[in-house]
Amino acid sequence: MTSIQPCPPKNNAELAREWDRLAEERHRQITSGEDLSFDHVVAPTSHFLLREADLTTVLDVGCGTGEFTAQLAAKAGTVVAIDPSAANMKLARFSCRYSKNVQFVVAPVEEVANSLDRRPATAAVAVMTLMTVPDLRQFAKAVARLLNTGGRFVATLTHPCFWPRYWGYDREPWFRYDRETFIEAPFVISNRETELRTTHVHRPLALYLSSFAREGFLLEVMAEPMPTEAVESRYPRRWEFPRFLAVRWVKGESSNNRLVL
Ligand SMILES: C[S@@+](CC[C@H](N)C(=O)[O-])C[C@H]1O[C@@H](n2cnc3c(N)ncnc32)[C@H](O)[C@@H]1O
Repeated sequence: MTSIQPCPPKNNAELAREWDRLAEERHRQITSGEDLSFDHVVAPTSHFLLREADLTTVLDVGCGTGEFTAQLAAKAGTVVAIDPSAANMKLARFSCRYSKNVQFVVAPVEEVANSLDRRPATAAVAVMTLMTVPDLRQFAKAVARLLNTGGRFVATLTHPCFWPRYWGYDREPWFRYDRETFIEAPFVISNRETELRTTHVHRPLALYLSSFAREGFLLEVMAEPMPTEAVESRYPRRWEFPRFLAVRWVKGESSNNRLVL
């Protein structure tokens, strides 16, 4: 995988432009059923972990092209779909065209948290978003500000311990597990490669846990979902290890999150 390379850090605006270019392809991958992981691993696990959450007002942070948002809207009171990519959001509005209870905000969640008129949410979800955010600490702070005490935050992400091995960059001389690293790679799902490139950030697992702990989040569930054998047989490669990680936090009391919005 020589086309996978480290790159200098990028900010929210640069990454939003990148997602603008990927939006159509991402939407196609999901709606065509080609993204097996979305349909059979990531989305079902996210729904499963949201079961015990109060879904009166749910933030879908990094809603992308909105396919998960539409599923969420079917069982939530109000969904606030947040994403800084305008092209993603256009497709998200289309994906949610039959849902009357979705509000769309085209901005990074850090900006949303700074808007004083937004009331705290009862739950939040970030499906495949955490490894794409450039500043995890600011991201965690923003989610903490927008979530009620006792509210659940569910996140699914590429597994930081196994994703580098899955894509083979764990053996590259530039890679160090314990170092936060921005990485450019082809935009692929297991079954199909494209010409497009995407950026993700490798972070050690401990950095994810400490960033949210610092903002008063208590770890409630951590899962390493795997596909069923029948689903696994449809992938080009066997799943030797988990490719994704799923986490549920509860927002506890902390000096940082007593802010009244
Ligand atoms: C891999 S996509 C996942 C999209 C969607 N949740 C899905 O599963 O298809 C990651 C998304 O996170 C969004 N994102 C990245 N940083 C963000 C931030 N700071 N605030 C809100 N969304 C962000 C990106 O724009 C992108 O749409």
